[in-house]
Amino acid sequence: MEEVNRRHRAALEGGGAERQERQHKEGKLSARERVELLLDEGTFEEIDKLVRHRCRDFGMDEQVIDGDGFITGWGYIHGRLAYVFAQDFTVFGGSLSETNALKICKLMDLAMKNGAPLIGLNDSGGARIQEGVISLGGYADIFLRNTLASGVVPQISAIMGSCAGGAVYSPAITDFVFMVDKTSYMFVTGPDVIKTVTHEDVTKEELGGGMTHNEKSGVAHFLSDDDAACLRHIRRLMSYLPQNNLDEAPRKATMDSPNRTDAALDTIVPLESNQPYDIKDVIQMIVDDGDFLEVHEHFARNIVVGFARMDGRTIGIVANQPAFLAGCLDINSSTKAARFVRFCDAFQIPIITFEDVPGFLPGTDQEFGGIIRHGAKLLYAYAEATVPKITVITRKAYGGAYCVMGSKHLRTDLNLAWPTAEIAVMGAEGAVNILYRREDADMRAQRIEEYKDRFASPFVAAERGFVDDVIAPRETRPKIIRALRMLEGKTDTMPRKKHGNIPL
Ligand code: HXC
Repeated sequence: MEEVNRRHRAALEGGGAERQERQHKEGKLSARERVELLLDEGTFEEIDKLVRHRCRDFGMDEQVIDGDGFITGWGYIHGRLAYVFAQDFTVFGGSLSETNALKICKLMDLAMKNGAPLIGLNDSGGARIQEGVISLGGYADIFLRNTLASGVVPQISAIMGSCAGGAVYSPAITDFVFMVDKTSYMFVTGPDVIKTVTHEDVTKEELGGGMTHNEKSGVAHFLSDDDAACLRHIRRLMSYLPQNNLDEAPRKATMDSPNRTDAALDTIVPLESNQPYDIKDVIQMIVDDGDFLEVHEHFARNIVVGFARMDGRTIGIVANQPAFLAGCLDINSSTKAARFVRFCDAFQIPIITFEDVPGFLPGTDQEFGGIIRHGAKLLYAYAEATVPKITVITRKAYGGAYCVMGSKHLRTDLNLAWPTAEIAVMGAEGAVNILYRREDADMRAQRIEEYKDRFASPFVAAERGFVDDVIAPRETRPKIIRALRMLEGKTDTMPRKKHGNIPL
């Protein structure tokens, strides 16, 4: 036991007191502190603590650390099993050795066999340079497992330091990426390499900081102020998720009545059709206890996605945001929402859509960037989703965006509209400018009024059954909850195929 204890103690020291101190000075927690904070107190069970690397090059045989800098094991979050690994930056910069890759693969195999989520706390300079291709192979083994586990168990990545190479590609395959403001970075090649190759001067923060990836690239979904807040954020997300694709998300008891109506909803949409309102206010008024966990808060703010509960049950919300870019669909909002819809569909989470969209954003930037291809992703994601789907049209549902945003035609189960809904090919002015461009101004003004009377309402769609009902906005919560109860046993399938070919 003396030797056992000695080795266990040695593993706890990681890269030594000096490097641990540096980690704290930089405002970061140690890898072990992170694991402790993430999991329910005292539940962590570590495995492979005594693993050692096998590299004999570059003097590595002189530097052997028990555990080799990766901490792997399982524990519980809100009493539910989760597998976790944490990279210790104090040991060779948290780099991935052959043996570390084996440790992670072992954990991933356990997560798959036992149907529980995998959470990676990343703080790593990527492949261990001293090991060359052996380490690269290790990453490829992990990427394969990330891919096979996708849609089977939730995979969550936290970026909690400077992460490069494989330490960013593995997270990119996972479902949700968390970053910590000012202390976490992600890049394929760092600022020095960029300077050499393209002569661009860019800081680490600008290139791969938390806000860059939350706001600009969309690689990250959540941003927290420090490590502890990030770990609490992960715990909160976990409370909404099922353990695997065959499991149901946990239900949370609520005092919020399923029959609650809210009169404020009746007047939330401004009478002037071009005036904005905040769709997040609508969401908060409708969901249980006003509790909404927004995903991708800073990216493509013209669409809002996230998790909430109704009747105690997890739902995924996709909502156009009239308060940003008038709620237009563009490249980023399409890919953001498409990925979210696919996550919900993979994990049996019903999708509630709030629609107020004037159309796709016009412009050369969008066309050259491939809005056709990217917009098609959202269409595809909605169409293939077989979970319960409910759409509420609060105001505009114009053009292709009408079709895309969970329209009846994409096998949505219940489509509701508020009296303020406007459902047509395009807005009245645009339509009249095309159809009656040769008529004088007075005649055109009259045509615009005629068009508005005929189409700027939910009634043409309701008469066809494209919306199932026009409801008082205040009734939205009870209506959705009754529909969710009705849809609890829903089954729907896809034709037999290996997989579809989503326009990537
Ligand atoms: C071995 C590494 C290492 C690595 C860092 N270290 N990265 N050791 N392999 N990949 C070691 C350093 O030598 C140093 O050791 C300690 O970790 C801390 O590193 P610093 O550079 O002092 O820290 P910092 O200034 O914070 O910079 C962090 C960093 C930088 C940005 C991550 O270290 C870096 O650029 N590392 C290399 C990144 C990289 O190119 N990795 C390979 C990617 S290829 P001492 O002894 O001084 O404490 C890859 C393939 C995957 O991953 C394929 C993808 C498809």
